[in-house]
Amino acid sequence: MGYGNFVMYHHEPVLWEAAVEAVFVRSDGVYLDATIGGGGHACALLSRLGPKGRLIGIDQDVDALRAARQRLARFGKRVHLLHGNFADVDILLQQLGVELLDGVLADLGVSSYFLDSPERGFSFRVPGPLDMRMDRSRPLTAELVVNTYSLHELERLIRRYGEEPRARRIARSIVAKRPLRDTMQLRHAIEAVVPEPERLQTLARVFQAIRIEVNDELGALERFLVSIAHWVRPGGRLVVLSYHSLEDRLVKRLMCYGNPEGRPIRDLKGVLRRPWRMLTEKPVRPDPLEVARNPRARSARMRVAERLEDSP
Ligand SMILES: C[S@@+](CC[C@H](N)C(=O)[O-])C[C@H]1O[C@@H](n2cnc3c(N)ncnc32)[C@H](O)[C@@H]1O
Repeated sequence: MGYGNFVMYHHEPVLWEAAVEAVFVRSDGVYLDATIGGGGHACALLSRLGPKGRLIGIDQDVDALRAARQRLARFGKRVHLLHGNFADVDILLQQLGVELLDGVLADLGVSSYFLDSPERGFSFRVPGPLDMRMDRSRPLTAELVVNTYSLHELERLIRRYGEEPRARRIARSIVAKRPLRDTMQLRHAIEAVVPEPERLQTLARVFQAIRIEVNDELGALERFLVSIAHWVRPGGRLVVLSYHSLEDRLVKRLMCYGNPEGRPIRDLKGVLRRPWRMLTEKPVRPDPLEVARNPRARSARMRVAERLEDSP
């Protein structure tokens, strides 16, 4: 079954000026964009760098890499693009022979391209297969999640990743209507137990929850944030844009304490040992003008940290 037409890659970079400003430390540095997407942030950063400045870009979506390759072609050999999951950043950077990075940018979550492409199955607004994989070479799809997870597992992930108060009722409705084969069948299973005025919000939360599970988004983010500290030189920057509170909480804990639990680690003298110093006391949010221009920016929160000298 076909779903809609071929969609051109489009994604409006969020907070791009602030993000580029925050990650930049020197014009001949080596930078990593861990979520290159269509290359919007990367293009702005490369334009700011000098002729010796280099950028490595990672994405797990091959369509994004294709779009980024085209957009960044004019920077030639200063750009190196890699297909992979940022959770595997250690292996990816080792294979490339990278030593230390001056700055790292991660703009998390989904690109507009995913939501605009019916055949990727991310949107509850259009019919599409129950896919939701950012990396289509991985085995777990939304179809497997909704049709094979137990009632208890479904309820748990909808509550946890969607922060959805009707998680039990929705999980029961999904289980009762199995097998579900496309995004519209999933949508109807959710709508059946939610009053009309709350439907859109609930659909967004449940689709988000399933997407987070399919892509193991929090697991990947945690592995990435722990690993990346070893790759950034002292004084270098880490800039993360997140789009929901679970991601932001994890980013904050890792930037403040260097571990996902937010546990202070002290040395024998009682001095706090941590890899990063947070430079943004509160997360930076897009201004109303940007949100009016690009409504998908509305939930964005940017945090910036600087690598410390003597730290784990
Ligand atoms: C919000 S978009 C990035 C847009 C980009 N900053 C731009 O300006 O075009 C997020 C991108 O991150 C990718 N992504 C999300 N999680 C990832 C992961 N764990 N590893 C690699 N790429 C990931 C997605 O495939 C998507 O292309």
